[in-house]
Amino acid sequence: MDTPIGGTTAVARAHSNIALVKYWGKRDEVRNIPAVGSISITLEALSTTTHVSFTPDASEGRDQDEFWLNGQLTLAPRVNRVLDLVRERAGFTGRATVTSTNDFPTGAGLASSASGFAALALAASSAAGLDLRPRELSILARNGSGSAARSIFGGYVEMHTGHLDDGSDAFAEPVLDGAAWPLSVVVAITDHEAKTVSSTHGMAGSRASSPFYPAWVDTGEQDLAEMRSAITDRDFPKLGELAEHSCLKLHALMLTSRPPLIYWNAGTVAAMHTVRALRDSGVAVYFTIDAGPQVKALCAPQDVAVVAEALAATPGVRETRTSALGRGAYLMAS
Ligand code: DP6
Repeated sequence: MDTPIGGTTAVARAHSNIALVKYWGKRDEVRNIPAVGSISITLEALSTTTHVSFTPDASEGRDQDEFWLNGQLTLAPRVNRVLDLVRERAGFTGRATVTSTNDFPTGAGLASSASGFAALALAASSAAGLDLRPRELSILARNGSGSAARSIFGGYVEMHTGHLDDGSDAFAEPVLDGAAWPLSVVVAITDHEAKTVSSTHGMAGSRASSPFYPAWVDTGEQDLAEMRSAITDRDFPKLGELAEHSCLKLHALMLTSRPPLIYWNAGTVAAMHTVRALRDSGVAVYFTIDAGPQVKALCAPQDVAVVAEALAATPGVRETRTSALGRGAYLMAS
């Protein structure tokens, strides 16, 4: 791609993450400030690479930003929002060309918005000449998507809901380095199509209509405390049981929303049973599922082959992908 004369360019990569304790529901819908905290792991095998190039100022060239996602010109107000925050902070008016590529299916419950907005926050702020601290990057990424705040960091990561209205205390931070406790994830892909109800809309609906929403918020802190100690103690069965509990509690919330949110298909349910059967046979493996039909199986690195084989043989599973824990967002040579 041509770089506008006098413009500034940066390329960043960020990895997707999956939550072990889930985020669902906001206390501020404009800034994506979560109503509950969350804990995630960053995934090495699923990444977004984003190139940002600014014109020197709005008068020299276009007056619009351009966003290309996987080769298609795309309208994404949240991308403009993140770019506006960067411009405001850097004190200039240049317009951006953003080119973003995922190495996995977009919008199908594999957290493309998490890796996407984390990569955008880092690339856009660097292209604008800002040198933001990780916490500030996390807040910037959160303004694009709540889960993106976590993908600034690698390994085990906690997102705080904070208390302040401006969201300046609602950021993620690392809990434990991935190398300190390696874990693997086998993703069972049961559908390659984009989901029908986005997380953003789904969680607003749950907050407004599920009778379980108050219980969801009330039990969040307890889940976070237990997950923190499972990670600190390297207690995999405790981590796994709690991850399944948080996942199933989330899906109970979704199912009891009006209109209901049913993200699962037959393959999703079959993959959950495969994971439970493996566990009954002595393999330590646990599932988690986000706002989509894919099942993510958590296991020790030495059990990846047996888990991947069993999931691949499950009816309705189209493909499996394996991932180790990944690093946080980083800049690449532009
Ligand atoms: C089910 O971060 O995609 O994956 O903040 O509106 O962009 P927005 O939502 P998003 O929601 C993720 C929900 C989840 C659980 C999680 O990742 O914690």
